[in-house]
Amino acid sequence: MFFLLHLFWLLCPRDALEEDSLSLFVRSTLPRTVLCLLYWLCPLCEHYLEVVAPQDLGGHLQPQFTYEYVIVGSGPGGGPLASANLARRGHSVLLLEAGEDHGDSLLQRVPFFTPYAGEDPTMSWSIYVNHYEDPKQAYRDSKYTWQQKNGSLYVGIDPPEDAKPLGIYYPRAGTLGGCSQHNAMNLVLPPDSTWDDIATLTGDGSWNATNMRLYFERIEKCNYLPEGTPGHGFSGWLGSNQNRVDLLDSGLLEIARTALNVTGVETAEDDDKMLELLQRDMNRNDAKRYHQGAQLLPLHVDGRRRRSSSQTYLTDTINNLKSDGSQKYPLTISTSSLVTKLIFDIAEPKNNTTTKPRAIGVEYLQGSALYKADRRFDGTQKGVPMTAYASREVIVAGGVFNTPQILKLSGIGPREELESFNITVVVDLPAVGTNLQDNYEVRVEATASTDFGNIVANCTFLAPGDICLREWDQNATGPYTAGGAPLSILTRSSVSENNDTDLLWFGGGASIFRGYFPGFSRLVVPLSTFWWSIVKMQSQNRAGTVKLRSADPQDVPEINFNFFSQGGEHDIEALIEAVMLARKIFNVTSGPLAPFNVTEPHLSDVGQNIKDEAWGHHASCSCPIGPVGDAKACVDSEFRVQGVENLRIVDGSVFPRVPGGFPVLPTFLLSEKATHLILGDEY
Ligand SMILES: Cc1cc2nc3c(=O)[nH]c(=O)nc-3n(C[C@H](O)[C@H](O)[C@H](O)COP(=O)(O)OP(=O)(O)OC[C@H]3O[C@@H](n4cnc5c(N)ncnc54)[C@H](O)[C@@H]3O)c2cc1C
Ligand SMILES: *[C@@H]1O[C@H](CO)[C@@H](O)[C@H](O)[C@H]1NC(C)=O
Ligand SMILES: *[C@@H]1O[C@H](CO)[C@@H](O)[C@H](O)[C@H]1NC(C)=O
Ligand SMILES: *[C@@H]1O[C@H](CO)[C@@H](O)[C@H](O)[C@H]1NC(C)=O
Ligand SMILES: *[C@@H]1O[C@H](CO)[C@@H](O)[C@H](O)[C@H]1NC(C)=O
Ligand SMILES: *[C@@H]1O[C@H](CO)[C@@H](O)[C@H](O)[C@H]1NC(C)=O
Ligand SMILES: *[C@@H]1O[C@H](CO)[C@@H](O)[C@H](O)[C@H]1NC(C)=O
Ligand SMILES: *[C@@H]1O[C@H](CO)[C@@H](O)[C@H](O)[C@H]1NC(C)=O
Ligand SMILES: *[C@@H]1O[C@H](CO)[C@@H](O)[C@H](O)[C@H]1NC(C)=O
Ligand SMILES: *[C@@H]1O[C@H](CO)[C@@H](O)[C@H](O)[C@H]1NC(C)=O
Ligand SMILES: *[C@@H]1O[C@H](CO)[C@@H](O)[C@H](O)[C@H]1NC(C)=O
Ligand SMILES: *[C@@H]1O[C@H](CO)[C@@H](O)[C@H](O)[C@H]1NC(C)=O
Repeated sequence: MFFLLHLFWLLCPRDALEEDSLSLFVRSTLPRTVLCLLYWLCPLCEHYLEVVAPQDLGGHLQPQFTYEYVIVGSGPGGGPLASANLARRGHSVLLLEAGEDHGDSLLQRVPFFTPYAGEDPTMSWSIYVNHYEDPKQAYRDSKYTWQQKNGSLYVGIDPPEDAKPLGIYYPRAGTLGGCSQHNAMNLVLPPDSTWDDIATLTGDGSWNATNMRLYFERIEKCNYLPEGTPGHGFSGWLGSNQNRVDLLDSGLLEIARTALNVTGVETAEDDDKMLELLQRDMNRNDAKRYHQGAQLLPLHVDGRRRRSSSQTYLTDTINNLKSDGSQKYPLTISTSSLVTKLIFDIAEPKNNTTTKPRAIGVEYLQGSALYKADRRFDGTQKGVPMTAYASREVIVAGGVFNTPQILKLSGIGPREELESFNITVVVDLPAVGTNLQDNYEVRVEATASTDFGNIVANCTFLAPGDICLREWDQNATGPYTAGGAPLSILTRSSVSENNDTDLLWFGGGASIFRGYFPGFSRLVVPLSTFWWSIVKMQSQNRAGTVKLRSADPQDVPEINFNFFSQGGEHDIEALIEAVMLARKIFNVTSGPLAPFNVTEPHLSDVGQNIKDEAWGHHASCSCPIGPVGDAKACVDSEFRVQGVENLRIVDGSVFPRVPGGFPVLPTFLLSEKATHLILGDEY
């Protein structure tokens, strides 16, 4: 019997079942031998193999069940690495994504509909996080959400008696492409210190900012600058374009001009000069790009002003066909596939030496809406258990909340926590799920004396005959091409750590952004409304945690940012300065809009108001890079999880510190850097 199995093993085609260890075979692959037998005896009955092999919704099923690489999560970390980079070099890749592909949906494609994508039940997860351990402080947030007895949600500070506290809504994409499908598309290189600090921390000079820009040049397809502009790329896969400053009305330009005047850094004597300054490229090849003043935030949209993202790159890779109509690159994407556990080969100690556990595959559940954060989850979805094997590496890129959860469920994490859930410890790695960070964001809201221009006055928001949609589609012009906030300026607080600015402002009129809570995308305000959203970068707090709620992989972990618990005074000081500066700007803005009535935040206790109302959406750092052997490090400078072989993490969890700007471009660059490391000379 054993001999027969062994024979089948030897006959097995390498690319179907790549494995070389007989002992491993005996221990863990009996069912695969049966599959291998089928593979040989039954070349025409692929439908049979479909039952066990992963399915990709694109209809490009490959009859194989061991891949060179298995990648978990298709966001900016996992998507580009999987698709492009490894599959386009001929490596077989299985990409497992919990969500579905909704890349064709207008909510994902049209820049204007970004907020709606962030709340659509088919493509977004409702994760509730805590900002504070102390419930008294937590419940002061007007965005705090409660579940009422009858199931309805209540958002606010005065919940009904019997309501159950849920927390603060934190949008996450559960969809092909990850959060790059519903984010605000701001595509910004971080200040050089974000990279140079990693080089210093790890002693790995390849992380320096000069080198990281080379990856940017490689992936960017710039649509807003003359070809050849130094520091930019023009033939990569990630489309970049400028925001639509031409849609700004004179009232908004007046506010921007006053803001510059009040901060005292530069002068814009008229609208033309202001428009020129607002088009100053924030990704220019200049170490001073984080100095104070007006800035253009480029967007990850293409030349036709459609969202460009991991999803578009993956789809292009899948749709690339050979002349016989078969898929050109060996990429299999399996959507609706929730990874529950990593599979390790844990060898017996031999000759008195132990070898590290080796990641060889993943277990996952196939089925729609399996994660409890999915709004369509009703308690009945269980999914079909599946496994997939990786002959070279398993790469986890589930994002900042899910990556630590997956590691912990698989036995990699703090021993005490794992044992409390009866999870067998594979590697005691205390850093997993610690060090969670975010940038803080606060709003200043004002009412002008007259209305701002309403650029969407004639739009019907996708109802039949929507001329704005037609204009976007046919001409790549009109209000639907605009990102959320074309006004942006950088300012530097008195506590900034270095010469870079630590405050990034973006704003708009005739609309509103008040942070995240259920229903945030559906707020309607008077056309006289103006808002600033001010992001405190260089935030000091590293005390956030991602802990298991249970050992059930369909459950959502407990996330607590522990806001302001480290360096709180520094961060609050910077934000108070920003709020006061914003008030001053409204105070001295002249023209038909004046006077303004600043409605938020109240002046009574600005510091407390900031504590109550601040939010974030740049969660990072829950499985940080660090020196090998450092108890605070989760992965080394080459993304390898400490204490195991063949396992990397490539997503926003590995930043040791939250990037000093927006995180999505830095995460795309992690993906490219990991590609380089994995491919080596092939790159
Ligand atoms: C509303 C919002 C607006 C934002 N705006 C901006 C912006 O304008 N600019 C910017 O730079 N950044 C922005 N961000 C942040 C940015 O989008 C994220 O930092 C970035 O997407 C992180 O990428 P990632 O690969 O780490 O994870 P994600 O994008 O979260 O991707 C992780 C993927 O893994 C999948 N997954 C998770 N668990 C599993 C599992 N168990 N099995 C299988 N698949 C799994 C998820 O479904 C998801 O697709 C915004 C974020 C939000 C929420
Ligand atoms: C639940 O109760 C609240 C408050 O009593 C009410 O406003 C809401 O409409 C109810 N929801 C449903 C679905 O009945
Ligand atoms: C950055 O790293 C690259 C690659 O390791 C190296 O060639 C270059 O000299 C470094 N530059 C600086 C400024 O350290
Ligand atoms: C701000 O405006 C005042 C009055 O118009 C002007 O005197 C001053 O030079 C301006 N400052 C800057 C930095 O533009
Ligand atoms: C066992 O290890 C020792 C010391 O490392 C080595 O000299 C010896 O050759 C090993 N024996 C076998 C059978 O591998
Ligand atoms: C095995 O290794 C340990 C530590 O390296 C050593 O103390 C022990 O004597 C070794 N045992 C044998 C049987 O070689
Ligand atoms: C762990 O296992 C023990 C013994 O079987 C059991 O009593 C305990 O409830 C389990 N804990 C959890 C969290 O499942
Ligand atoms: C809306 O349509 C009217 C009538 O055609 C036109 O005058 C107006 O300029 C349009 N407004 C916008 C914002 O396009
Ligand atoms: C597209 O642009 C052309 C030329 O400016 C114009 O005639 C046409 O009406 C525009 N189409 C839409 C749908 O706005
Ligand atoms: C900040 O800039 C000043 C003046 O240009 C310079 O002297 C100083 O060294 C800089 N500080 C840092 C931390 O780079
Ligand atoms: C607004 O301006 C008035 C009059 O110039 C001044 O008294 C007041 O202090 C200013 N308020 C702020 C918040 O700057
Ligand atoms: C300013 O706004 C507050 C709060 O909305 C309101 O009570 C007050 O009447 C407004 N004041 C003016 C001058 O519009």
